[in-house]
Amino acid sequence: MLMNQAAAQLAPLTGLKQDEVLRLLEVPPQAEMGDAAFPCFILAKSLKKAPAVIAMDIAAELQTVGLDASAAGPYVNIRFNREDLAPKLLQELGLKTFGKLQLGAGARVVIDMSSPNIAKPFGIGHLRSTVIGAALYRLYNEAGYTSVSVNHLGDWGTQFGKQIAAYKRWGNDEALQAEPIRTSLELYVRFHDEAESDPSLEIEARDWFRKLEQGDEEAQRLWTFFVEVSMKEFNRMYERLNVQFDHTLGESFYNDKMGAIVEELKAKGLLEESEGALVVRLEEENMPPCLIIKTDGTTIYPTRDLATAVYRHDVMKADKMLYVVGGEQKLHFRQVFAVLLRMGYAWSEICEHIPFGLMRFEGRKMSTRRGKVVFLQEVLDEAVARALQIIQEKNPDLPNSQEVAEAVGVGAIVFGDLRNNRLNDVDFSLEDAVSFEGETGPYVQYTHARINSVLAKAVEAESVEKENQLENVRSSSSNNAGANSDNKSVRVGDTSWALLKLLADYPQYLEKAIHRNEPSVIAKYAIDVAQAFNRFYHAERIADAPADVKPFRVALTERTAERLAYSLHLLGVQAPERM
Ligand code: ARG
Repeated sequence: MLMNQAAAQLAPLTGLKQDEVLRLLEVPPQAEMGDAAFPCFILAKSLKKAPAVIAMDIAAELQTVGLDASAAGPYVNIRFNREDLAPKLLQELGLKTFGKLQLGAGARVVIDMSSPNIAKPFGIGHLRSTVIGAALYRLYNEAGYTSVSVNHLGDWGTQFGKQIAAYKRWGNDEALQAEPIRTSLELYVRFHDEAESDPSLEIEARDWFRKLEQGDEEAQRLWTFFVEVSMKEFNRMYERLNVQFDHTLGESFYNDKMGAIVEELKAKGLLEESEGALVVRLEEENMPPCLIIKTDGTTIYPTRDLATAVYRHDVMKADKMLYVVGGEQKLHFRQVFAVLLRMGYAWSEICEHIPFGLMRFEGRKMSTRRGKVVFLQEVLDEAVARALQIIQEKNPDLPNSQEVAEAVGVGAIVFGDLRNNRLNDVDFSLEDAVSFEGETGPYVQYTHARINSVLAKAVEAESVEKENQLENVRSSSSNNAGANSDNKSVRVGDTSWALLKLLADYPQYLEKAIHRNEPSVIAKYAIDVAQAFNRFYHAERIADAPADVKPFRVALTERTAERLAYSLHLLGVQAPERM
């Protein structure tokens, strides 16, 4: 916001366009140097002068229009008039429309997220997809898009043949009802173990899947049962993470839509035989062939994704499609998007894979086939238990500590994931993530709760003041220090100025987060705001500030609380009032 003003003033002096200037403007490395720095190197050639000379010229011109500008080597440093600007900024921050962008113009963004596999544990990759997807969903909505979330369940494929075959041999309904994922997983593991010495199992499995694809009644019934019990367990997790989906359309949904795709591929001469299977060759694109029909005549993952993309384009009217799926599926998506192009669908370019790195918990990986598996439910429980312990130490009188611990523990996991650049591999330490210090979710939540108590004190102090000086009440500005400020100039300390500027910069962060599909931009922003507030809180008095600056500081504190709570909300993390 402020940078825009600086750019507007610099543009005519530099002969550059305003947005060009905006891109060049920097924040000086030290606050004492001012609020904005313009590097003059770029003008040296056209003006045939040394950058330092140009800097002096521009600074002198800015001074003539009353701006606080000075040259420092090749840079023009500009200092805004914070006393005049602060009340205006504060007022803008209080507007309902503040921070809502209009980048999307209503365009529909279909976000493929979470998408766990039925009868298998919800993996860490699915957790990452869920929290990154849910954050992107909200971010896009904030920026004027219409987000549509789809849970593309892995509820189809040969593994269901295995699941049914194993169930028919060793299945136990009671165990499946009680602990669906664990029991399904055991069946799956047993299937793989025994199939090594008993090849008939594989044949049974293949038969069952074929029956399933052909609509056989028993196969369908068993499949429905598996889906239902798994979904019950997934839904418990979604509830804890507070994630909803606009659509849950698993791979099975495309079962009757793949035939048309296969026919189309054939008609367009794209399907070729390769060792009994049908593939689309992608030599020109420098990729291995994309498998469409397996040797046993069944469809496969890419076939379903082709039908899915066509459906999202034709029926859901997607203007943009995001696939929030781990980086290990990079090739798969490149192939699918390339086949769409080969089919003549230029809209393939609206499809984007949003990959992310691996995550481990305390060095443990998630593997679905054998042995060492971490269940998300357990990770969440442990985070909540740790949070409860810290809360009981810090605030033993908190009445709803269990509820707050759930918000903090789950929030710690979600925030601990989102604060990393999504492409990075993360080794997650529960102890670090749940800590109330450092760059964590609980730190931001705790700062937010502390602000609430500061504000409560400010109100308290106010009523004492009111009693003491009943007469002066009306003339003093103490009637709620909110954004109603009358734009009077106000003394602004260094730490409040730094905090205020950061709050005013929020729209830029939102834009960057969307541009990069990177929720970590907002997570880091929330940490920066919390840190800036804590510096302000230690350096300047708030509740017991002198009367002339108190309304400003209290209003700044209120805006900070709102921004922190809102940033957390965008990330899918709660902001308890007290903790
Ligand atoms: N179920 C898949 C898996 O767990 C992820 C699906 C991602 N979405 C998609 N449209 N392929 O690997």
